[in-house]
Amino acid sequence: MYTIALIGCGRISSNHIEAFISNKNVMQLVAVCDPITERASEKAAEYKKVILDSKIVIYKDYQLMLKEIKPDIVTIACESGKHPEIAITCLRSGCHVICEKPMALSTKDADTMIDTAQKNNKKLAICFQNRFNTPIQRLRTAIEAGRFGRLLHGMVQIRWNRNEKYYAEASWRGTWEQDGGTLMNQCTHGIDLLQWMMGEDVVRVQAQTRRFLRPIETEDFGAAIVEFKSGAVGIIEGTADVYPANLNETLSIFGEKGSAVIGGLAVNRIETWRFADAGLVGDTEEKVLDPNQKDPPTVYGFGHAALFMDFIKAIETNQEPLVSGIKGKKALEIILAIYKSQKTGKAVDLPCDFSTLEMTGEFK
Ligand SMILES: NC(=O)c1ccc[n+]([C@@H]2O[C@H](COP(=O)([O-])OP(=O)(O)OC[C@H]3O[C@@H](n4cnc5c(N)ncnc54)[C@H](O)[C@@H]3O)[C@@H](O)[C@H]2O)c1
Repeated sequence: MYTIALIGCGRISSNHIEAFISNKNVMQLVAVCDPITERASEKAAEYKKVILDSKIVIYKDYQLMLKEIKPDIVTIACESGKHPEIAITCLRSGCHVICEKPMALSTKDADTMIDTAQKNNKKLAICFQNRFNTPIQRLRTAIEAGRFGRLLHGMVQIRWNRNEKYYAEASWRGTWEQDGGTLMNQCTHGIDLLQWMMGEDVVRVQAQTRRFLRPIETEDFGAAIVEFKSGAVGIIEGTADVYPANLNETLSIFGEKGSAVIGGLAVNRIETWRFADAGLVGDTEEKVLDPNQKDPPTVYGFGHAALFMDFIKAIETNQEPLVSGIKGKKALEIILAIYKSQKTGKAVDLPCDFSTLEMTGEFK
C-alpha cells in the first residue's frame, strides 16, 4: 500500500480524489495540502465519505507536510507555474510525483524536473489522462499494429469555451507567469495525443495565435501546422472562444490504409473507423461505431484513475509510466514553439528552448 498526498485542492483536485478512491487497493490518501484550508478540508471530506475511518492530515505548507508525513507519492494540482518548484522539492525529498499538466511553463524547468527524478531514482508522471480514454487506447493499438500504413496527416481541434467567469475564478489563469493561454492549458491534451499518434518527432512548427475575446494576457485561440520527421503533417486548431459552450475535441488521423476520427466533447467517441484490413481484423466501421458511446460528465474525462494505476505499475516494475516526464515534455515543447513562432512571425525548428515568460506583452 502506497501512502499518497495531494498538493493543491482546487478545480481539478476532485479527479485526483476519485482516482485515489478507484485505486484504494494500492494507495491510501494520508495528507492534503492547500494554503486555503477549507479547500483542503473539503477534499479530505470527499475521500472520507467513501473510504470511511481514514486519517488525513491537513496542511497549508507542503514542505512541512513532506517533512512530517513523508508520503511515498504526491500528486500536484496547483497552478501550473508552481509545478516545477514543488515537483523538484518533492522528488528531492524522496517522493514519486504525479504532476498535473502542463508540467512546466519553460523547457528549462521541464528538463530540471526530468533530471531531478532521474538523479533521485523517483518516478515522474504528467496528467495527460486522455491517453487512457478507451477509443484513444484503441487508436493507439491500431497505430502500433501498423494498420494505417504510412501516416500522412493528423489534425486536432479543441473547440471549447472558457468564459470570463472561468478566468475571474482564479487570477493565475490566462497569465504568462502561471498558466499560458488556451493552447497551454486546455489544448495541451489534444496536442499531446496528436504528437503521440503521429510519431512524437515534431521538427518544425509554424503558427498564429490570438487573444480575441477574453480579458487575459495570453492567447484564447491558436492555429498551427507542425511537421514531423517522417514528413507527415499535423494541424492544430484550438480555441476557448466557442459560442456559447464547449463544442468538441476531435482527433483525426489519416494514413495510406486507414482513417480514424475520435471526437465528442473530449475525444471519447469514435466517429470514423475505416481500415483496409477491417474485414481481416473484424472491426468494420459498422461494428465499431457504437450509438451508446457517451461523453464524460466533464471534459476532464475518466482517465486519472487509469493514469494513477499505470504509475503504480511503473514503480513496481521499475519502468517508466506511460506519460513520463520525458513524454510529458513533448506537448510542452510544441506549444512553446508555437508561442515562439507567433512572437517571431517565423517557422520554429525543434528542439526549441523557450518560456511563456518570453511572451510577456505579446497581446497588449
Ligand atoms: N488534467 C486536466 O484535465 C486538468 C484540468 C484542469 C486543470 N488542470 C491543471 O491543474 C492545475 C490546477 O488547476 P485548477 O483549475 O484546479 O486550479 P485552481 O486555481 O482551481 O486550484 C489550484 C489550487 O492550488 C492551491 N495552491 C496554490 N499554491 C499552493 C501550494 N504551494 N501548496 C498547495 N496548494 C497550493 C490553490 O490555493 C488552489 O486551491 C493546473 O496546472 C491546471 O493546468 C488539469
